[in-house]
Amino acid sequence: MRKSGQITLVSISLVFTAFQKMYDQHNFFTIDFFIFTIIAWIVGYQYDKVHHFEKKVRASERSYKKLIDSLPDPVYILKDYKFLYVNHAAVSLTGAKNKEELIGRHILDFLVPEYHDRALERFKQINKEKRPVNTIEYKAKRLDGSTFFFEVSSMYIVIGGQEAVLSIGKDISERKEQTEQLLQKSEKLALLGQMAAGIAHEIRNPLTSIRGFIQLFKSGQNYPEYYDIVLSELDRINSIVSEFLVLAKPTAAVFIEKDVKNLVNDVITLFNTQSILNNVQIFVEFDSDLPMVMCEENQLKQVFLNLLKNAIEAMPKGGNIDVKVKQKEEGKISIQIIDQGMGIPENRISTLGEPFYTTKEKGTGLGLMTCYKIIDSHNGEIKITSVVEEGTTVEITLPTITQSLLGVS
Ligand SMILES: Nc1ncnc2c1ncn2[C@@H]1O[C@H](COP(=O)(O)OP(=O)(O)O)[C@@H](O)[C@H]1O
Ligand SMILES: [Mg+2]
Repeated sequence: MRKSGQITLVSISLVFTAFQKMYDQHNFFTIDFFIFTIIAWIVGYQYDKVHHFEKKVRASERSYKKLIDSLPDPVYILKDYKFLYVNHAAVSLTGAKNKEELIGRHILDFLVPEYHDRALERFKQINKEKRPVNTIEYKAKRLDGSTFFFEVSSMYIVIGGQEAVLSIGKDISERKEQTEQLLQKSEKLALLGQMAAGIAHEIRNPLTSIRGFIQLFKSGQNYPEYYDIVLSELDRINSIVSEFLVLAKPTAAVFIEKDVKNLVNDVITLFNTQSILNNVQIFVEFDSDLPMVMCEENQLKQVFLNLLKNAIEAMPKGGNIDVKVKQKEEGKISIQIIDQGMGIPENRISTLGEPFYTTKEKGTGLGLMTCYKIIDSHNGEIKITSVVEEGTTVEITLPTITQSLLGVS
């Protein structure tokens, strides 16, 4: 503890008394001299004490601030939805150059629009209940527009006499990606298992006809006109098996230029038997001159497969499915799958795509979720509209090659 207060006050008192004594020509060491000095010393002592603690508090404040600044997880304080404080981790997570670039910015600038309502609702809750709230996940946006998943917990605080919200979070993109990959894998396996039954059927028909022809040839008669039929039946088996293998292959996300028309047709081939068994007819309609899309072929096929499967399953008594592939506005292609099935109640539409939501006895509730993830990774969109007892339309919009190349998507 520094003693500057005591020294200063006692010295002033000494000088003052000395001056007075000299002037009055009195004895220097009188009783009031002692009283003055003691009072000066006590006041000085108290001043030094306060000063000392103030310094200590300031130093510990600084060390706390340093500690929070250097935490590996992003920490920030919001006042009226605007950044009042951010630590280093928050700065680097958002891709800002320094703290100043963030201070004063609105939090919603850093969340993708779908999450805005959720965030505002949460801030209201924090301000009302004035207690920490559970962690929540957001899809957040960096300054350069790239997105990441962010998990955050927040609490109400009072800082400098002002109400604010303190949050601490974590970038969980990697964790989410891993879970998604696992889910996609398990969904794919389930799908392949289910498809296997359909594929067995698909192969048995041409096999039966080939067997018939071979028996005919064995009888010694020559029927060259049937050779071509046998060959084309064999080709058919071959293409079904290759299709199945394409789907079963592990997916390395390689995006290449593809014609959506071919992908859709390939997938529809896989449904031939299943649709006949279910009394379903699939009609396809393509715009001429469709632009190409940048895509991961197997993943897109998986989307069409899931959607067609849902459409068939929605029509237990059979019906028609229309598949329409059109060029939408410039740079966008739309693939619609329209069924005449049972439809989806309006209040359920928003639940679609959540994992494990299913109304089917043997459903996985993972199909639509996988579709959403895949289309999202292609910078596309899925829109589902439905009327109960009339049918459902699922529309996928994908950016076409020109747009992807320009990096607009
Ligand atoms: N075309 C459709 N018509 C009616 N309901 C649908 C359709 N597509 C999806 N659904 C509803 O969405 C739910 C989730 O679908 P999905 O994620 O594919 O899982 P699953 O097919 O295993 O149930 C289905 O159980 C069904 O209730
Ligand atoms: Mg499904």
